[in-house]
Amino acid sequence: MSDRSFRLDNQIAVVTGACGRLGPVWAEALVDAGARVGALDLAGAPVSANYQALSERAGDRMRRIECDVTERRSIERALDEVISRLGEPSVLVNNAGIDQPPDAGSDRASIENLAIDQFRRMVEVNLLGAFQVTQVVGGRMAARGNGAIVNIGSLYGSVSPDQRFYDHMPGNLPFLKSPAYGASKAALVNMTRYFATLWGSRGVRVNALSPGGVLGGQDEQFRAKYVARVPLGRMAQPADLKGPLLFLASSASAYVTGHELRVDGGFTAW
Ligand SMILES: NC(=O)c1ccc[n+]([C@@H]2O[C@H](COP(=O)([O-])OP(=O)(O)OC[C@H]3O[C@@H](n4cnc5c(N)ncnc54)[C@H](O)[C@@H]3O)[C@@H](O)[C@H]2O)c1
Repeated sequence: MSDRSFRLDNQIAVVTGACGRLGPVWAEALVDAGARVGALDLAGAPVSANYQALSERAGDRMRRIECDVTERRSIERALDEVISRLGEPSVLVNNAGIDQPPDAGSDRASIENLAIDQFRRMVEVNLLGAFQVTQVVGGRMAARGNGAIVNIGSLYGSVSPDQRFYDHMPGNLPFLKSPAYGASKAALVNMTRYFATLWGSRGVRVNALSPGGVLGGQDEQFRAKYVARVPLGRMAQPADLKGPLLFLASSASAYVTGHELRVDGGFTAW
């Protein structure tokens, strides 16, 4: 293996949900490895400070492109734009996703009364969105015989959230992390294996990267409870995620497909 195997020079990468917290982490790793990046996100999506900073540094090596991953036509238009403005993609990071942040405490439901629309929407973005982007962008890679797809899962694809992390939060009812999130991520990891086997012979590798909780804005009590359950004794820093992403996106993992790489400090090993 040469040092070059982690490089992505002259490659075009697509990252969905690129403007949020982790999107710029993946995009930065890809840009710094030599790729040019199509940064797909909803029209009008708020742009994080990290995205803004990367966008200024990357210049024309990163292009913001509008895309709603739940709309097939929108994905097709985004792919056309990636091809015309950047070139043929050979890396896809299915990162767009929605979670349910701990709320202000006033509008909670018991599990018996959880709104089914909330469940449906999470599956629609996290699972069906990734499926449709894989159909369109991954399909293009399979037709050309070359590509690496990385689906962003979560530790909650493997284990249930520990509701005790949230029991200090005030509210009319206890905060309950929705079962839809983990269910959608577990299905995404399963779908990773589906496409890995389907497209292995067509030169497309498909893997999942499942992060644990990434440090950023959580309250102190949550952090203390969470960290007590992590063998490595801390939450993830964005920098912890870049090496694993580059490994899966590059020829360093040329013989790896259908794998879930958990980057969770050992959370799911206990
Ligand atoms: N942050 C964490 O601690 C963590 C941990 C494990 C897994 N993840 C996963 O990482 C991914 C990114 O998480 P994040 O923390 O950056 O979230 P985020 O909310 O900061 O960013 C998500 C991005 O996805 C975009 N998006 C939402 N719906 C979309 C749609 N229909 N079409 C296109 N884009 C859409 C949003 O506009 C946003 O920019 C998600 O899949 C999430 O489940 C995050």
